[in-house]
Amino acid sequence: MDFETALGSLFTPDGRRNPYPAYDVLREHAPIFSGLDGRWFVTTHALTSRLLRDPSVRVADAAVYDSFWPDWRDNRGVASIVQSMLLTNPPDHTRLRRAAAATFTARRVAAMRDMITAQATDLIKAMPERTDFVSAFAYPLPIAVICALLGVPDTDRNWFREQAADLTVVLEPISTEEEMARADAAGRELEDYFIGLIAERQKAPREDLTSALAAAGSGLTGQELLANLVLMLVAGFETTTNLLGTGLKLLLDQPEQAARLRADPELAPAFVEEILRWDSPVQMAARYASEPLDLGDGLHLAAGADLNLLLGSANHDPERYPDPHRFDPDRPNIQPVSFGGGAHYCLGAPLARLEAQVAFPLLLTMLPRLALAGEARLRDRLVLRGYAELPVTTG
Ligand code: HEM
Repeated sequence: MDFETALGSLFTPDGRRNPYPAYDVLREHAPIFSGLDGRWFVTTHALTSRLLRDPSVRVADAAVYDSFWPDWRDNRGVASIVQSMLLTNPPDHTRLRRAAAATFTARRVAAMRDMITAQATDLIKAMPERTDFVSAFAYPLPIAVICALLGVPDTDRNWFREQAADLTVVLEPISTEEEMARADAAGRELEDYFIGLIAERQKAPREDLTSALAAAGSGLTGQELLANLVLMLVAGFETTTNLLGTGLKLLLDQPEQAARLRADPELAPAFVEEILRWDSPVQMAARYASEPLDLGDGLHLAAGADLNLLLGSANHDPERYPDPHRFDPDRPNIQPVSFGGGAHYCLGAPLARLEAQVAFPLLLTMLPRLALAGEARLRDRLVLRGYAELPVTTG
């Protein structure tokens, strides 16, 4: 495959199904190159890690959106992401992130272990003999967990699933008009939902994140509060669902690895890190250079340059991970860039890890004969990667 074909393939359904051969070609071509509309693509682990931590490499925030799309606030799907911490830079980012992190503490996450175990156990017991693992487990578990944390009644899981799927399309580099209209509708629905919940929690606070963030003194404007709650709900399960689906598919494809984890659940943290590396649920992070960047070797980027950091490619960089396409939970010091890095490092990483570390050993021990039962279907997305459908038999 030549370089142009490799780059083009990332924007086709076939290429998206397995982007790793294309990443290899692009990485061999260069650690960073400009393609499509002058955007820069970053392929190596070293440069991705460096740029994620460089304070002059920022996210495209409201001011940047204003410069190329003055009406972006009219699309509430776009607005809810742009006004959240994900697309905010310091000093606002620091303030938003601090407020959320103060409620999203390591203690609160660790205290979720029993609840996660109980939910996962119930879901496994309820799985019929033949089912779609994504609908029966990979969605409902993270939805139940993030809903419990935010204090959102999870009575309508399918509704959240649909809204999130429509909304997250705004993270893709290319989307159709129809997709953008659906993202707008989903943004409006989710905002309306949280407006109601915030009012309830302000009247009668509970022990949940919505109450904590909605309390006077959290330092967030009403719009920021809404955007960050929508972000946490959506980010809280879309990606974790993909981690659970990808991980289960891998364990069923590689029974010798599944047998190791079944025999020794203490291996779960290493397995989860390697699953995250091997097929990252988030494949790309977008940034721009807020000032001219000197990358060495005579390479200079102008201020305003758009950067796409190919996290999936960085995770398969042979310089950092020998024999990168092999799944090997015994690798030392895995540390994939799947949760990003620097100021925007995933706020929910400890929670996502905990859910997966609990789920995989439970699934393997409670359902020792779990097997694939038909064609697994991937979602057709470049940024958020995972299975839409994973038919299994439970034995
Ligand atoms: C940010 C991945 C689960 C909340 C991020 C970023 C990545 C990521 C790559 C950084 C994006 C960037 O730098 O542009 C993942 C993956 C997950 C996961 C792979 C699961 C396997 C969660 C969960 C939550 C969450 C469970 C729960 C609330 C967030 C938030 C941010 C974020 C709030 C924005 C942080 C900021 O901008 O400071 N995530 N995430 N994520 N994630 Fe996650």
